[in-house]
Amino acid sequence: MKQVWTQLKDEALTALSAVSTLDALDLLRVDVLGRKGKLAGAMKELAALEGEEKKEAGVAANEMKTAVEAAFAAKESALRSASRAADLARERVDVTEPYVPPMPRGHLHPVTQIQESLEDLFTSMGFMVMSGPELESDYYNFTAVNVPPNHPARDMQDTFYIAGQPNQVMRTHTSSLQVRAMRAYGTPLRMIAPGRCFRNEATDVRHEHTFHQLEGVVVDKGITLGHMKGVLETMAKHLYGPDTEVRLRPKFYPFVEPGVNGEVTCYLCKGKGCRLCKKTGWLEVFGAGMIHPNVLVEGGVDPDVYTGFAFGLGLTRLVMLKYGIDDIRWLESGDMRFLNQF
Ligand code: PHE
Repeated sequence: MKQVWTQLKDEALTALSAVSTLDALDLLRVDVLGRKGKLAGAMKELAALEGEEKKEAGVAANEMKTAVEAAFAAKESALRSASRAADLARERVDVTEPYVPPMPRGHLHPVTQIQESLEDLFTSMGFMVMSGPELESDYYNFTAVNVPPNHPARDMQDTFYIAGQPNQVMRTHTSSLQVRAMRAYGTPLRMIAPGRCFRNEATDVRHEHTFHQLEGVVVDKGITLGHMKGVLETMAKHLYGPDTEVRLRPKFYPFVEPGVNGEVTCYLCKGKGCRLCKKTGWLEVFGAGMIHPNVLVEGGVDPDVYTGFAFGLGLTRLVMLKYGIDDIRWLESGDMRFLNQF
């Protein structure tokens, strides 16, 4: 019996010396020392022995087990320190290597920053955020919002028409989403739609062919001008601080009745009058009004039951006012010397 143990031990040690990785070591450990391993198998045979013989065999078995376990432990620590040494060799730093500067980390465009901040505000008031096509149908951009073909109001917005596509325009405003939203989501409706707009402008410091707007639409039973002013005031305070006031003055837009021109207290002079607000104390930042019944009808909403308001503001203009940017063309220029300032 004793011989069996010696043989088992020799086999185990031979196998152990051939092991060169920690994974192989684990496999061998299971094979020799595991619950169903060779050693456990031999231990079972002990049970069949008796008296002195059993005692001797037991002692031998335990010695053998201790020796094999010690050999495994020694092998493991040898393998571990070898792999640490290999790691260290690999991690050696070559101080003569040329320096590759890390890529500079980018940031959001200032227009996107303002857009996201307004999305946060409006979603917190239960508005959904919508987007729509920049190449828009003439219908949604104009006709649906109460500007039929050949109506003089079309002259308010110089439009890019598309060669060979008589019914398509580059959307001139985000108001193209008003009827899309009503048709897609019905009532009650609370949505904002930020997006790029395009106008066929002769560009200069105040005019650009591409700019950003944010549209807002609310439709429900019993919506009044008071709700509109409340929402616009909340927005103005979010943008320019808690002391900001809103002033609404009549202005014509075909898709609202009554329509207003919305102004906020000049944040620079706090309403005293300065260069930024042209001495008026007010900054013009949005158009708004109660949605015209014709527009509700186009959206499939019954104007005898529902009312609503809409507003549109120029995100590009907000950014210009906020940072005192004197030439709108910087905003779409992609010029890093400009963009890196924000
Ligand atoms: N669409 C208008 C513009 O581009 C702004 C506006 C939107 C006015 C909604 C009233 C209501 O000038």
